[in-house]
Amino acid sequence: MGIMALCEVSHPDDVLVERRLALHRRLARRNEHRLTPAHDVGSDAFDLEAEAEDRRAEEEFVSGERAALTDSLRDLPSDVERFMSWFERLRETGPGQHDPLFAWLAEECTLADMRWFLGQELAGEAGFEDLLAFTQVKMPVRVKLEMARNYWDEMGRGRRIGMHGPMLERLAETLSARLSMDQIVWESLALGNLMVALAWNRRYAYQAVGALGVVELTAPDRAKQVNAGLRRLGVGPEARKYFAMHATLDIKHSAAWNQEVLRPLVEADDRAARAIAEGALMRLGAGARCFAAYRDRLCVSESRFKASRSTSDSFHR
Ligand SMILES: [Fe+2]
Ligand SMILES: [Fe+2]
Repeated sequence: MGIMALCEVSHPDDVLVERRLALHRRLARRNEHRLTPAHDVGSDAFDLEAEAEDRRAEEEFVSGERAALTDSLRDLPSDVERFMSWFERLRETGPGQHDPLFAWLAEECTLADMRWFLGQELAGEAGFEDLLAFTQVKMPVRVKLEMARNYWDEMGRGRRIGMHGPMLERLAETLSARLSMDQIVWESLALGNLMVALAWNRRYAYQAVGALGVVELTAPDRAKQVNAGLRRLGVGPEARKYFAMHATLDIKHSAAWNQEVLRPLVEADDRAARAIAEGALMRLGAGARCFAAYRDRLCVSESRFKASRSTSDSFHR
């Protein structure tokens, strides 16, 4: 904890950070409100104006994220084959790929660091299966079928024990990794808010397809390193199953998504490639922003590497 305190210096852009925190806490509350099953409790509690204001804030946020992509999209290929290669290359060259945070998590971090990291990741986790459920509405049959197969895997193929969301919940519980709202950085909230904005608003349906596809494409490498870190810290195989499984399963999911979702959508509609690319780059950009924020907070640097080596911190179930 003493080492973490070294990082708590004030930055000149504190005002901007406060503003972003306020925005993303507000959007996170709105998303919880609009996604959680509820009862009609009368018009007082159902404030249309507040909802419209939050929608406007969400639109401004998404527009800002899209506007930042102009340069990256300049050379986007328009033909299907070249687009597919461009998309697959994101695994190597996309924003946030090979971020040093993950080697550090695998080899160096303490259990307290890992807990904090997982707490942030949980806060930005909008629930892949629900995002997918929104995204698949009214999609063409071939696309919908692959989305259904992917969804079925997310749902543990009908068995509670195999459901991905609850698997992550079990790890969070085992490690007591949940953080309170005031501990969560705006970057994590922004990641979740972005994914809900894309999946919820149908005119971003193609961006949602790109964002979900790039998660499948890039998750395995990171999951492998987080799993290695958890193993090193003494976390048992049952608790770290979520990461162990995603290190391999998403390779298969990604290949099927590219073939059965991206390819037919791009073949059918000239505008799809750009929207899919936007979604993928927005998602990777939001992830990269989280990794940088985590490194900053956790002081992932040469000195931190050495410091963590002398900190004995292990976890046994
Ligand atoms: Fe999954
Ligand atoms: Fe997956």
